[in-house]
Amino acid sequence: MAGRIPQSFIDEVLHRTDIVDLIGAHVRLKKSGKNYSACCPFHNEKTPSFTVNREKQFYHCFGCGASGNALSFLMQYERREFMDSLEYLAQKGGLTLPETSQDHKEERASRQPLYDMLDAAAKFYEEQLRQHPQRERATQYLRQRGLTGQVAKDWRLGYAPPGWDNLLRALGNSPEEVALLLQAGLIIFNEQRNSHYDAMRERVIFPIRDFRGRIMAFGGRVLDDSKPKYLNSPETPVFHKGEELYGLFETRQARQDLKRVVVVEGYMDVIAMHQAGLPFAVATLGTATSTTHVERLFRSVPDVIFCFDGDEAGRRAAWKALESALPALKDGVSAGFLFLPDGHDPDSLVREEGLDAFRKRLDEAEPLADFLFRHLSEGLRLDSLEGRSRLASHASPLLEKVPKSLFRQLLWKRLSEMTGLHVGAEESAPMPERKLPAASPSAFRKAPDDDDDEGYSRPMITQPVRAVYQSRPPQTPRGRHTLSLSDRAIQLLLQKPEAALTLNLERLEHHLPLEAALLLTVVRFLQQDAAPSGMALLGAWEGSLEGGRLKRIAEDTNFIPSLDVEGELTGIITQLAIHTLKEKLEETHSLGAIQQLKTQLRELEAELRELDNNRPG
Ligand code: UTP
Ligand code: MN
Repeated sequence: MAGRIPQSFIDEVLHRTDIVDLIGAHVRLKKSGKNYSACCPFHNEKTPSFTVNREKQFYHCFGCGASGNALSFLMQYERREFMDSLEYLAQKGGLTLPETSQDHKEERASRQPLYDMLDAAAKFYEEQLRQHPQRERATQYLRQRGLTGQVAKDWRLGYAPPGWDNLLRALGNSPEEVALLLQAGLIIFNEQRNSHYDAMRERVIFPIRDFRGRIMAFGGRVLDDSKPKYLNSPETPVFHKGEELYGLFETRQARQDLKRVVVVEGYMDVIAMHQAGLPFAVATLGTATSTTHVERLFRSVPDVIFCFDGDEAGRRAAWKALESALPALKDGVSAGFLFLPDGHDPDSLVREEGLDAFRKRLDEAEPLADFLFRHLSEGLRLDSLEGRSRLASHASPLLEKVPKSLFRQLLWKRLSEMTGLHVGAEESAPMPERKLPAASPSAFRKAPDDDDDEGYSRPMITQPVRAVYQSRPPQTPRGRHTLSLSDRAIQLLLQKPEAALTLNLERLEHHLPLEAALLLTVVRFLQQDAAPSGMALLGAWEGSLEGGRLKRIAEDTNFIPSLDVEGELTGIITQLAIHTLKEKLEETHSLGAIQQLKTQLRELEAELRELDNNRPG
């Protein structure tokens, strides 16, 4: 939507706004020289480090780094979204948002009656909770779940009484109204009877509000153990389940110095946490966590904790949430995971153990990176090259999803440390120096994309890899008896796949013994790719005969990584070629051919001596 608003309009809105007035309405500003100053509204402080500059229409906090213009102030301080902030300021400035597209205009116009109908329905359900003759069942249920009347009121909880047409009769008095109820998913059409009936019957109603507080959908819970436990509104023009979060409006309303949001699984979990004094819980609406969800959250807060049951389903949901979160992880945000004891959800736990204990759990949530590597390493033997390769092959595509950032580099570094594998293709570059943006509660940071991309390529960190190698005995692998020379060569290629790019394929093809066929295939495979990867290699042959052999080679726990992969590889290939030549010599009877082979052999032997002399150690 934002893309449809021309920059000139935004400029005009800002032109008509005075940032000092705007901020002054919320924060007590003191004039000091050209600027105004105050204690920063975005972090706790005793001496003012927050300044507002009228001339530049800009604010900045030297303490926490929060900064921006009038629009970003509204977004940060009032937790409004961009369009909402723009509309608010435009209105104050006597402007109306431009309708840049006809569709858009019609769309907006056609939605208002739907919103009105949804709100009328919410009012109807609320009223039933207060007045319906059978309301006792519902109020009794809510009491039994520990909800106070005030909380029920704040969340606009309601009651859909028993019966097929309560809502229909109350609100569907014209064909237009019936059409709106139908569009909202509040009534359902029965073809056989050619009539409509209420979708929600005998349920506690949870209205779902959008970020501005407009009702856009409902959830309804049964009062007993019958199924389905919850009914939710279907997708409608104003409700997209996969993007919305229950409790986000209420969380933003709570509007203290909001730093963190906890994503839980259910309606009751959200409400219970708010009631317990943790007014920053939201829930997806019966769907898995999507990237859109996470992006939305990071627009409001820098820290998101995903809270799941400790059972298998919870772990699966958590992993899905992690995958969805990766593309949303820009610098300055963080995500954590909290697994609850078996049989508990946040609702039951916070009631049982209380606010402080639950808060402590939140503080101890597992950082995303820890969860990621812990989960991926499960069942893998990291003391085998194969286990480490596996880890790298499973982790790489996930790390690729993280936007270029310091965090991404740290993930790669950690993978490299855990696997001892040289991750990445290019030659090693030093870690670029980069300062983290100042920590601020703001969601309005300079996007990493604004920066030049330099130094943000996938980091090639050889340092930790070397450290791993050097901690092993400085044996030379020559003369090892467990693996053939060509197998050793394959191991070296798994250690450093890009070494394949330096090999002379011609010599390989002409002088290799038959048993080195796999080596040749491996080199060919790796040479196809400018950034070859050992994981792709193992993956490509998975399940085949060669795959089995590759796997055995990779699994060899005695593998001693090489400090000079290229040198050792060239040595092995030269040795193999010498071996082949010697065999050919024995079989050849033509004098001319023998002369030629002997010359080649002498050349190769000289090369090998040269290589050995240059070998480190
Ligand atoms: P849970 O089954 O974990 O229930 O569903 P809960 O939230 O703990 O519910 P209570 O405490 O028994 O009232 C988690 C969420 O999954 C969706 C709802 O959004 C629910 O809050 N859900 C669950 C449905 O949409 N339909 C269902 O039938 C069940
Ligand atoms: Mn529950």
